Amino acid sequence: MKLSSSLFSVPGIRTLRANLRRPISSSPKVSLPSAIKLKTPIFLRPLQFSASLSDLKKWHKWAKGMALSVGSTFVDLDNGPDSTLLFRELNWFMEDSIEDHSLISQLGVQNNPENVRLRASLDELYTLWKQRIEERRPFQYIVGCEHWRDLVLSVQEGVLIPRPETEFIVDLVEDALSSNGELAEGLWADLGTGSGAIAIGIGRILGASGRVIATDLSPVAVAVASFNVQRYGLQGMIEVREGSWFEPLKDVEGKLAGIVSNPPYIPSDDISGLQAEVGRHEPRLALDGGISGMNDLLHIINGAASKLKPKGFFAFETNGQKQCKFLKDYMESSYPGIFCNFNIVSDFAGVERFVTGFRQ
Ligand SMILES: C[S@@+](CC[C@H](N)C(=O)[O-])C[C@H]1O[C@@H](n2cnc3c(N)ncnc32)[C@H](O)[C@@H]1O
Repeated sequence: MKLSSSLFSVPGIRTLRANLRRPISSSPKVSLPSAIKLKTPIFLRPLQFSASLSDLKKWHKWAKGMALSVGSTFVDLDNGPDSTLLFRELNWFMEDSIEDHSLISQLGVQNNPENVRLRASLDELYTLWKQRIEERRPFQYIVGCEHWRDLVLSVQEGVLIPRPETEFIVDLVEDALSSNGELAEGLWADLGTGSGAIAIGIGRILGASGRVIATDLSPVAVAVASFNVQRYGLQGMIEVREGSWFEPLKDVEGKLAGIVSNPPYIPSDDISGLQAEVGRHEPRLALDGGISGMNDLLHIINGAASKLKPKGFFAFETNGQKQCKFLKDYMESSYPGIFCNFNIVSDFAGVERFVTGFRQ
């Protein structure tokens, strides 16, 4: 079954990189003790390879041909990318991989003997683009990063690619901070942090003594989020903890100024109908919210009642419409007098997506 309103169907993947934000050049070096093998995004790799302009031109022609051959096949199949989007991705791919982007426009020059410095070998460029087209491997896993708000976050298999819709959660937190300055100096939790996107977004708008604990059950997510936190120099402010939902937060009972989460919320039966990039490649742990899709959201709400301090703020992302209404009704009826000032907020596609509010 195809999902119509879910961010995991079309809008997420297809609008990724829509803003064309480019990599941050002055990124600090990060080293992490971890059993997980972290993949370095292409744009952060050294320029250790080279190829002649004519070989690069051959590759580019082949890659364009592969993209062109897709036409609207993937759109018809599962609302996947069409050739136009793949051409755009090919340009981003070259920007990340080639030292001098201006050479891209010279790819049409015949028999140019000049050598070009690359961050990935020409062989790897062939392999990666083949994976993009033939295996439908998400573009973000190919280049190893995603542009999200003003961040460039490292991502790899095992970690959800953060979606543009989720950027809104940071705006919602910013609004809450402006209505109550104390929240900015408090302790926040980002449950199911994935790449660390929301935690880092919030960490950058909190006050000097504000803190974030970011949790995830997935060791790969914990490693990738820790890498991203360190790359943005926020390790003094954001602590990444491994474990299930509130289990790693036993020491902060009743102390949280805010809880945010974008948990798995796709109903199990809908997973098989997702776009191949998502269903085949992104972690099921990040997607599957049980039969109704609400398992994790309800679990988080039950914990939020005791973890939030009075006047604490919450913002939860849902699969949209029905889930938002169900969540709000559940919070009102199961926790009368505990939560207040509910708000259902739409994403930029007009889908009711987020439930926000406060602890009494
Ligand atoms: C939809 S993804 C969101 C990731 C990230 N917050 C974002 O918005 O891009 C849900 C995340 O919840 C994590 N997760 C799933 N079950 C969990 C659990 N029991 N405890 C903690 N995290 C869990 C997944 O590993 C995944 O990173």
